Amino acid sequence: MKKIFLSIFLAGLGINISAQKSIDQKVTELMAKMTLEEKIGQLNQYNDDITATGPITKDADKAGQVRAGKLGSILNAVGTKNTKNWQDQAMQSRLKIPLLFGQDVIHGFRTTFPIPLGETATWDMNLIEKSARIAAIEASAYGIHWTFAPMVDIGRDPRWGRVMEGAGEDTYLGILVGKARVKGFQGNGLGNKDAVMACAKHFAAYGAAVGGRDYNSVDMSLRQLHETYLPPFKAVSDIGVATFMNSFNDINGIPATGNKYIQRDLLKGAWNFQGFVVSDWGSIGEMIPHGFAKDNKDAALKAIIAGSDMDMESRSYTNHLAELVKEGKVDIQLIDDAVRRILTKKYELGLFDDPYRFINEKREKEQANNPEHRKFAREIGSKSIVLLKNENQLLPLSPTTKKVAIIGPFAKATVENHGFWSIAFPDDSQRIVTQFDGIKAQLDKNSELLYAKGCNANDNDKSLFAEAVETAKKADVVIMTLGEGHAMSGEAKSRSNIHFSGVQEDLLKEIAKTGKPIILMINAGRPLVFDWASENIPTIVYTWWLGTEAGNSIADVLFGKINPGGKLPMTFPRNEGQIPIYYNYYNTGRPAKNNTDRNYVSAYIDLDNDPAYPFGFGLSYTTFKYSDFNLSLTELKGNLTLNASIKVTNSGNYDGEEVVQLYIRDLVGKVVRPVKELKGFQKIFLKKGESKTVSFNITPEDLKFYDDELNFDWESGEFDIMIGTNSAQVQTKRVNWEK
Ligand code: NOJ
Repeated sequence: MKKIFLSIFLAGLGINISAQKSIDQKVTELMAKMTLEEKIGQLNQYNDDITATGPITKDADKAGQVRAGKLGSILNAVGTKNTKNWQDQAMQSRLKIPLLFGQDVIHGFRTTFPIPLGETATWDMNLIEKSARIAAIEASAYGIHWTFAPMVDIGRDPRWGRVMEGAGEDTYLGILVGKARVKGFQGNGLGNKDAVMACAKHFAAYGAAVGGRDYNSVDMSLRQLHETYLPPFKAVSDIGVATFMNSFNDINGIPATGNKYIQRDLLKGAWNFQGFVVSDWGSIGEMIPHGFAKDNKDAALKAIIAGSDMDMESRSYTNHLAELVKEGKVDIQLIDDAVRRILTKKYELGLFDDPYRFINEKREKEQANNPEHRKFAREIGSKSIVLLKNENQLLPLSPTTKKVAIIGPFAKATVENHGFWSIAFPDDSQRIVTQFDGIKAQLDKNSELLYAKGCNANDNDKSLFAEAVETAKKADVVIMTLGEGHAMSGEAKSRSNIHFSGVQEDLLKEIAKTGKPIILMINAGRPLVFDWASENIPTIVYTWWLGTEAGNSIADVLFGKINPGGKLPMTFPRNEGQIPIYYNYYNTGRPAKNNTDRNYVSAYIDLDNDPAYPFGFGLSYTTFKYSDFNLSLTELKGNLTLNASIKVTNSGNYDGEEVVQLYIRDLVGKVVRPVKELKGFQKIFLKKGESKTVSFNITPEDLKFYDDELNFDWESGEFDIMIGTNSAQVQTKRVNWEK
C-alpha cells in the first residue's frame, strides 16, 4: 500500500519510480568512483565573474578548478555561450560530472513580470503559476537549470527591502503563492527541457529580521516560527520543491546555516525533504562574524553537521572539509548524503544523459523576445495593480481627454520597470514599454500627452519643479508617477524612511497647488508611506514594478480596458512608527476600542492604530454589495463541515473582479489567537448587475494551531466566521464548535 502511495506521489512530481530507482543506483555507482576531493567538489558553488549578486571573491583559475572536479555548480552564468564554456571545462574533468547553473530568476527572465509582491496582489494562483512557468521556459533556454526562487519568507515589515520578493504578510496566502510558483518553475517535472529546479528560500524566518534591517537577527518563539513562518516552506517541501536555500540570519542565537534543528532535524528529518540545501551567498563563512564559528574550518564543520549541502561562495567547504573528514571530525556519511542529494538532482535534470541539453542557441533566440510571453506580462501586470482611491471617479480616464500630462521621474524610465531582480540584457531598453509610451498609445490621436520629469527619484534637486508645474497647468488631467526607485527595494535595500524618496512629495504638493485633477500612480517594491497624498489626493493607484509591459498594463487600467481587481498582500502603515503592522495581531489585554481611544489602552498617544490601507484591500471601478451571509450550522460537534455563504452583487457600472475573503477568529485558546486569520478566498468575475453566491467549506483542519508545546490541534469553543471585501470590512457570525 505504502509503495502505491509513494509511486502516485512520485508520479505526481513527474518522477517515474523505476527511473528513480536507477538514478539511485547510478548515483551509488558514480560515488564509488569518486575521491573525497571530488565529492567535496560537488558541494561547492562559485559565482561566474560576469556579474555578482554578493561580495566578490576572486579565484585563480576557476576553469582549472572545474577541470579538477572541484566545483559542482556556478551561479550567474547566463546564456548558452557562457554556460557551454563552463560545461566544456566540466567535461574535461576526470569523471565528467556536469555543472549546475543557478540564477536568481525571481520575476521573469527575458520577459519580466511584476515583482512577486505585486503578482501576489492578483490573488490569482493560475496567473502566478503561469508567470513562473514562462520564466522557466525562458531561463532554461539560456542554459539555466535552477532558479533561486520562490522566496517564501513571510514579510511583515515594509522597511525590509526584500518584501518585494515574497508574497507578503500572510501565511495562508504565502502557502498558495509558494506552491503555485514551485509548480510553475518545475513544470511537468525535472527532466523536461523547460523545467528548472525551484529553491525555497530563505530557510528560515529571514523576513523577521529585527528592525527590518537586512541580514539582521531573528528572535521568536518556536510556536511563532512554526505557526507563521515555516508553513510555506513545509508546503513547498511537500509538493517536491527540488532545493532549499538557508538564510543569513540567526534564529534565536543560532545562524540558520549552522542550525541543525532547522535543516537536518526538521527539513530533512520530520519533513522528509529529498532535495538539497544550498547556503546563501557566503553564509557559511559569515558564521564567523556572527560569533558562532571561530574560523572557516569551524564554520564548515558546523554547516555540514547542520545540513547545509552546498556552499555558495564562502569556500569553507573547498578549503576545509577534506581535512575535517581526515581528522575524523566530520563523518563521511554526512558528505555522502550531501553529494548524493546533489547528484540525484543532476540525474533528474537529465544532465548525465546530455550535459548540454539546456544549451541550445535556437531555443535561446526564440525566447529572447517572445510575443506570447509579453502578452501575458501585460495581463498579469494590469491584474497586479491595486486601486487605492477613486473618490471622484476620475478613473477610468477617457482616451479622448484633450490634454493629459504625465509627470514624475518614472514616466520615461525603461529598465527601472523590471524591478530589483533582473539581468540587464543589452537590448532591454528597446523592448520595455515605458509608462509614457503605454499611455500615449491608448490616447486618442487628437489628444496630447505632455511630459515633465519634475525631479529625480532620489535626490534634493528641485530645479525641474517649475517646468513640471507649467506642464501641469496646460493639462486637463495630470498623472503623477512617483514612488521609490526600482533598486531601492530588494536585497540590502532596507529603508528606515519609506516615504517617497527624494523630493517627490514636494513635487506632488506643488502640482496639487495648480488645482488640476491628479491621478497618483505609485511605483514601489514595498508598501510606502504616503500619508499626505492619502489625505489630499482623491485618486491613487498602486502599480508596484510591473516588468517589460509596464506601460501597457498601466494604460489598460487607467483607460478602463481592465477594471482593477488587485488586493493588497501587506498592510500599509500610516507611518513608520506603526511597523511591524499586520492584520492578524493579538487583541492584547487592553485593546483600544477605536482610533481615538487612548486611555490606558494599547495605542500610541500620537498615532492611530489602524493602518492606512488594510491587508486584502483594493477597489474596483465598480462596487460590490455583500448580502445574505449564511452559515449552515451555528452549533457543531466533531468532525463536521461548516458551510459559510454570502451573496455578492456587482452594484456598480462596470463588469469586474472581486476577491471574497474568509477570516476566522478563535475566541478563547490555550494560547491567545489572532483577531482574525485568512482561511480562504475566491476571486470571482461579475458582470454589471450580476450576483453570485460564494460559499466556503470550513472543517476542524482550519481551526488548528500550535500550542506552547508545539502540538498542532484545535479546541472546542466559540469561533467568529467573517466574510468580506478586505480584512477590515467583514460581516461576522459566531458558531460554537465542540470536539
Ligand atoms: C543572496 C540572496 O539572499 C539570495 O536570495 C540570492 O539567491 C543569492 N544572493 C544569490 O544571488
